[in-house]
Amino acid sequence: MFLIISTVLLASLATAQYPEGSRYTPPISPGRGNWSQAYASARQFVCNLTLTEKVNLTTQTGTGATNTYQLGIIPRVGFRGLALDDSPTGVRGTDYSSAFTAPLNMAMTWDRELIYAQAFANGAEHRDKGVNIAYSPVVGPLGRAPEGGRNWEGYSPDPYLSGVSFGLTVAGMNAGGTIAVGKHFVLYEQEHFRQRIEWNSYDLPGVEFNITEPYSANTDDRTLHELYLWPWYDAVHDGMAAVMCSYNRVNGTQACQNNHLLNGILKGEMGFQGFVVSDDGSQHSGVLSSLAGMDMTILGETSPNGVEGLGISFWGPNLTQSVLNDSVPEWRLDDMATRIMAAYYYLGQDEGFPELNFAQGDLDTYGHLYPHAMEDFTQINQHVDVRDHHAEVIRRVGANSIVMLKNTDHALPLMSPRQLAVIGEDAGPSLFGPNGCADRGCDNGTLAMGWGSGSTNFPYLVDPLSAIQHRALEDGTVVQYVLDNYDTSLIDSVVSQAEACLVFVNADSGEGYIEVDGNYGDRNNLTAWMRGDELINEVAGNCSNTIVVAHTPGPILMEPWIQNPNVTAVLMAGLPGQESGNSLVDVLYGTVTPSGKLPWTIGKKREDYGTDVMYIPDGPEPNLNFTEGLFIDYRHFDQAGIEPRFEFGYGMSYTTFSYSNLRVDAVDASNASIGNDEPTHTVHSQMTANPTICPHHTTKLNASAYTFPSTISSVSDYIYPYLPRNSSLTTGPAYPSASVYAERSDIPAGGASALWDDVYIVSATISNTGETAGQEVAQLYLSLGHGEPVRQLRGFNKTCIEAGKDAEVSFTLRRRDLSIWNSPSQAWVDVRGLGGDVGVFVGASSRDLRLNGTIPAMINAKNGDHGGTVGQKGHSSLTTNDSTPFVTELSDGQPEVPVVTKRVL
Ligand code: NOJ
Repeated sequence: MFLIISTVLLASLATAQYPEGSRYTPPISPGRGNWSQAYASARQFVCNLTLTEKVNLTTQTGTGATNTYQLGIIPRVGFRGLALDDSPTGVRGTDYSSAFTAPLNMAMTWDRELIYAQAFANGAEHRDKGVNIAYSPVVGPLGRAPEGGRNWEGYSPDPYLSGVSFGLTVAGMNAGGTIAVGKHFVLYEQEHFRQRIEWNSYDLPGVEFNITEPYSANTDDRTLHELYLWPWYDAVHDGMAAVMCSYNRVNGTQACQNNHLLNGILKGEMGFQGFVVSDDGSQHSGVLSSLAGMDMTILGETSPNGVEGLGISFWGPNLTQSVLNDSVPEWRLDDMATRIMAAYYYLGQDEGFPELNFAQGDLDTYGHLYPHAMEDFTQINQHVDVRDHHAEVIRRVGANSIVMLKNTDHALPLMSPRQLAVIGEDAGPSLFGPNGCADRGCDNGTLAMGWGSGSTNFPYLVDPLSAIQHRALEDGTVVQYVLDNYDTSLIDSVVSQAEACLVFVNADSGEGYIEVDGNYGDRNNLTAWMRGDELINEVAGNCSNTIVVAHTPGPILMEPWIQNPNVTAVLMAGLPGQESGNSLVDVLYGTVTPSGKLPWTIGKKREDYGTDVMYIPDGPEPNLNFTEGLFIDYRHFDQAGIEPRFEFGYGMSYTTFSYSNLRVDAVDASNASIGNDEPTHTVHSQMTANPTICPHHTTKLNASAYTFPSTISSVSDYIYPYLPRNSSLTTGPAYPSASVYAERSDIPAGGASALWDDVYIVSATISNTGETAGQEVAQLYLSLGHGEPVRQLRGFNKTCIEAGKDAEVSFTLRRRDLSIWNSPSQAWVDVRGLGGDVGVFVGASSRDLRLNGTIPAMINAKNGDHGGTVGQKGHSSLTTNDSTPFVTELSDGQPEVPVVTKRVL
């Protein structure tokens, strides 16, 4: 499938107006190597290492010990180690790199080509800065609650849209050359109470937190699979080589030491081949986390920012000790190191990879290589300009992500207005500059990025006012502006002169370690900030052509003004990155016809969503019970019969489209790719059946062989793998052998390659019935029955159509698109085997459904493609029998409708 996507992208990018030879045009390969070869090289490398060298690959050097996250320097074999950095919006904490749009905007485009192109550019920038491993992309949070602080780092609460975007971003970043780390695994859906120390240190008025554990996200197995794990399946399929486990607990167990999640589901059921890295401080144990499947610790220290001890690690010397005293089997350490090196070879980083050429968070040219110890003063930043022509892709993603929600009497596009009023702080530059607040932790001037570790430095920020003024010169338009949201009399007088009044509002959110205006990461409400609602009504009260532009990390409530007849147009612009103003001008003036669609619902009131952040803990060990199950966002609105203001998938254009000619065709089962899948699962058998990665294990010597060598001098608080001098071996509990790994040995859904077989093609004709060319995002929804949402997205296709012309669009349904998770049998079940037809809908949004048809049930089918349990097929070595049928025919008619069981992990 990837080769196909890559070829399509290659062709379509070639027609885009990118300068010849630019780095991201065209992506030559989808960035996937070959896992079998990668593992062969990794084994060869790892099996020649000493025990401490292997430990060195798993444990980062510590807070501030080195100036960018690093690990694994092994001078004896000439390995210079691996460098790691954030983020989804660009290379974090440096200069001469791009500030990309938020991933939210990538989802708002619904454009596979653009998602991939921006991901590729971001990956290339990380690589060119010498970053081997980039902490991006994000699909946890998925966006269960619209208030969730980090939702904008991800894509959409719809798992299908998120899955496509997440998979494409992984593939794009990998192709750009850096190892994309999918994060945060899993159910990390809010900032409040994600970490003990962080939240207990907050001093909210009248509230004192005293939590003893991070929150536990509690959910049933079916919801876990169909909603929150769904996009991870995409990413594994698309070549994800690293995963970051999250801060929270899941059903009571810390995510990073959750055997069922890491060994069982991620590495077993999904067949993930890469490594699992902790988040800063999400590792809560040494032995348990290694046995549960964590492979690398970031920061290295026991808690974020070394609060509980600089230089003190659960791993490092403690992992060495644990292997020596048999608490952790050495083959597990071999596996950890092998997985890390397999990712490195999978991406081809052994050839020509640039050296790390900057220091995260330090823009100076010279500084200390070991900043905490203040040692080795040298050049730490080479200021390498890695931006290439990426501004173009950022501008395109920005423009194509803008969602137009209202456009009365063709208020837009602007047609050479005589006078424009531009109102609102969000239209102009910040007094402090675009990087004035650390990690973008403030809301000043125009908002183009949220705050936290998902941020990056802006090389520049084109604010809307500058871009509008620049464009207005062409028409001789008079441009007046007021950037003070509170100067009502000045606003009144300026807007009453104008032909069109552009009013800018925003709302912000980010990561929980920063508080902005009383918002501790998660938003406190869903309204526009800085009296945004009043500002809009103020302007509309004096201007009959008021055009609202909103920069937000998610939905905002619009009821106070959306029906005001003087509010003639509304544009949702997300968080557009460095090219913000240019992207907006493209749409305002019609150079680009709006084509974005909402990746979430805009409700009429906050309560309508049915989900929210927990702001006050329900006890010292907070529990977030995901009792809504599968029903978040539009699935909830549909199920509860609540009328949204704007539904999921909605977005207008400057032209109009009609839909006709629905066809629903089964794919000839004999053409299904049975047996042709890549044999990616062979590695796992090494873990379960025969835990021997390296033929000859290190011969364990006595402790003195592993103590700090006299030949090197230590840097203070740097985490080394060595035991302290004069230490002796402790006795540890022997690892709980078989039971720990039992999760992985017999997984019905293991590998589940048959999920990816194409089973149906749905197609339709879209006609551009307007007078201008435009792009339409045609959407496919299915009604699967059996307790599933009323309708759920299972396909989308963005097509550019000239005025008066038609285009054929098609959607390929894979078996997984027709499958639901059956918890009792731990397998995906194709609903066609469960009775009842599947409803098929094609339309312009989740509620604007223009065409419908059905996919028939296929009960007890004897031949061809049929329903039933979707197990693995072909080459998976998770079972001993390679001829295991990929579809099990149902016995006794139909199995029960899958029971949602709560599984205590
Ligand atoms: C914590 C964040 O949760 C994670 O997303 C980020 O990658 C790390 N810090 C490193 O900055």
